[in-house]
Amino acid sequence: MAKGIFIVGTDTDVGKTVVTAGLVYLLRKNGYHAASFKAVQSGGIQWEEKLVSSDARFVKEVSQWEEVQENICGYCLKTPVSPHLAARLEGLKLEKSVILEKYQALCNQYDYVIVEGSGGLIVPLINPNYMVHHLVKDLDLPVVVVARTGVGTINHTVLTVKYGQHMGLEVKGIIMNGYTGKIAEKDNMQVIQDLTGVPVIGVINRLQGIDVEKGAFGNLREEFERKIDMKVFLKMMKETKGCGRK
Ligand SMILES: Nc1ncnc2c1ncn2[C@@H]1O[C@H](COP(=O)(O)OP(=O)(O)O)[C@@H](O)[C@H]1O
Ligand SMILES: [Mg+2]
Repeated sequence: MAKGIFIVGTDTDVGKTVVTAGLVYLLRKNGYHAASFKAVQSGGIQWEEKLVSSDARFVKEVSQWEEVQENICGYCLKTPVSPHLAARLEGLKLEKSVILEKYQALCNQYDYVIVEGSGGLIVPLINPNYMVHHLVKDLDLPVVVVARTGVGTINHTVLTVKYGQHMGLEVKGIIMNGYTGKIAEKDNMQVIQDLTGVPVIGVINRLQGIDVEKGAFGNLREEFERKIDMKVFLKMMKETKGCGRK
């Protein structure tokens, strides 16, 4: 059975893709057959005849992994707005079954699948009534929340954790991204842990030269090797229910 986790952001641009890439890199480097899955990408980049998912491409580059975009991205839309609106503007009807089938196919082929959402939990995904949290539930996956470290993060992160739990999701851990060493950031993390009871399982520094759209990843690999305890992460993944035929 493949084990999976759903990476949820407190917002867009908080580092979901950076974290997904770092985790897939770590798993693959340690010999685990791991994949990422971007359920719906909006703001895809036009490259010759093709729309490229910068998120899927970034994960592949960081983890030196070869895979066909169509297999690891449910839908890739061009307009950089909420997926449901991008689909409407582009005259497409997104089908939940397509996303579920692609995820299932990855589970049949890989041992670990890290799914990246779009924006936060209450982002309309395939239509105005089907949000990211509905997909988490349909995929039956536990959640890791990626949060900013600076001002405003207590409110965003606690709301995300509590709402996720309210919707019946299992929130396993929080990864704080973009840490610069300020006292306020340290305090934010402590307050978040105290208020949610969910452990911070990793703190990723603000790094130079990271640009997901441009495929620049600086010292991201080294940072994840230093900062993420693979044992904790693997244990967390192994506790999950799993899917697929293996
Ligand atoms: N740890 C980090 N250090 C420096 N810049 C970061 C870091 N994490 C994210 N960024 C910046 O934020 C941008 C958005 O990150 P990304 O992972 O694509 O967010 P999301 O997937 O949540 O939208 C990146 O292109 C990069 O410029
Ligand atoms: Mg992303």
